[in-house]
Amino acid sequence: MSRHEIDVEQLTRNVVAPVADEQDRRAEVSLRPSTLAEFVGQRELVRHLEIVLGSARARNQTADHLLFAGPPGLGKTSLASIVASEMGAGLRITSGPVLSRPGDLAALLTDLQDGDVLFVDEIHRLSRGVEEILYPAMEDRRLDVMIGRGPSARAIRLDLPNFTLVGATTRTGLVAAPLRDRFGFVGQLDLYDVDELTVIVSRSAGLLEVTLKDDAAATIAGRSRGTPRIANRLLRRVRDFAAVQGHDVIDEPVAVEGLALFGVDEFGLDKIDRRILGLLCQQFANQPVGLTTLAHACGEEPSTIEDAYEPFLLRDGLLIRTPRGRIATERAYHHLGLTPRGGGLV
Ligand SMILES: Nc1ncnc2c1ncn2[C@@H]1O[C@H](COP(=O)(O)OP(=O)(O)O)[C@@H](O)[C@H]1O
Ligand SMILES: [Mg+2]
Repeated sequence: MSRHEIDVEQLTRNVVAPVADEQDRRAEVSLRPSTLAEFVGQRELVRHLEIVLGSARARNQTADHLLFAGPPGLGKTSLASIVASEMGAGLRITSGPVLSRPGDLAALLTDLQDGDVLFVDEIHRLSRGVEEILYPAMEDRRLDVMIGRGPSARAIRLDLPNFTLVGATTRTGLVAAPLRDRFGFVGQLDLYDVDELTVIVSRSAGLLEVTLKDDAAATIAGRSRGTPRIANRLLRRVRDFAAVQGHDVIDEPVAVEGLALFGVDEFGLDKIDRRILGLLCQQFANQPVGLTTLAHACGEEPSTIEDAYEPFLLRDGLLIRTPRGRIATERAYHHLGLTPRGGGLV
């Protein structure tokens, strides 16, 4: 492949998937907002966080433990690093699935410096044994460890430095109640509106040294499923497209052409969204469908459907949840170019 060709198949893969791939992870580091002032949107959450952090600073103490919840790509990891930098604290990063044994967490906790922020991503995936180490650590900065085995075993108690635990999860309901109760603050992140995403895309364009017209920024924002991660990814793809086409400036026609090449429709739906809606509108003939059935039919995990895809389909009025299951709306039929049919149509 020559330098001037685009590998469309590679680039259209997962183009509007909310979950980060390896390429996103590398690119996102430079686009992360580093202060609360740079963090766009989530106004109420940011206001509350300012108070929590401000009062901790005024008392010269570490901040309360914080839990951030919301769909992937909305800024939970960014907020964790903002908390550390706003508090002038060190940041240690780990995740629920990585901390598989209690000893892993104990090692991490005893290695903390005074005031550190410990970020535990996917905190709902901690094992029970690890959670039980965490409770006294969060509450009393205490670590109880067993030394030895059998009759000679004894418990010793270690004091931990001051630290702030920041947890992230896709849904607070997934976090065990005793763990949830130990957070002093729970912040819920919601999908962003187009104006907020336009600001984010324009800011990222500046950081990437791309000349992006306002109308092009709004077009990209409008197709990003309410998700900054997707907005930034689409921007990078459009930038590559423009470079290959020899455009120095990205205006709306260039953005529209690039997005069309990558298979992003005007709602920003991806393959899985379309499969979900297609199944609901056609195979299931507009009968309510349970989450598990729907997930199996899509070849995805139920949690992926529920946490990563449904929030946007619900917000955009393409799908509704009823006690008996999910149903596509009339808007979904129109979007797929289908004629609505069946009973219970919404
Ligand atoms: N409020 C925001 N303002 C600006 N950029 C944001 C915001 N939220 C997220 N981003 C961008 O989206 C990317 C993904 O955010 P991230 O914090 O990794 O999401 P999460 O951890 O919730 O999956 C970040 O690299 C950042 O560039
Ligand atoms: Mg994250």
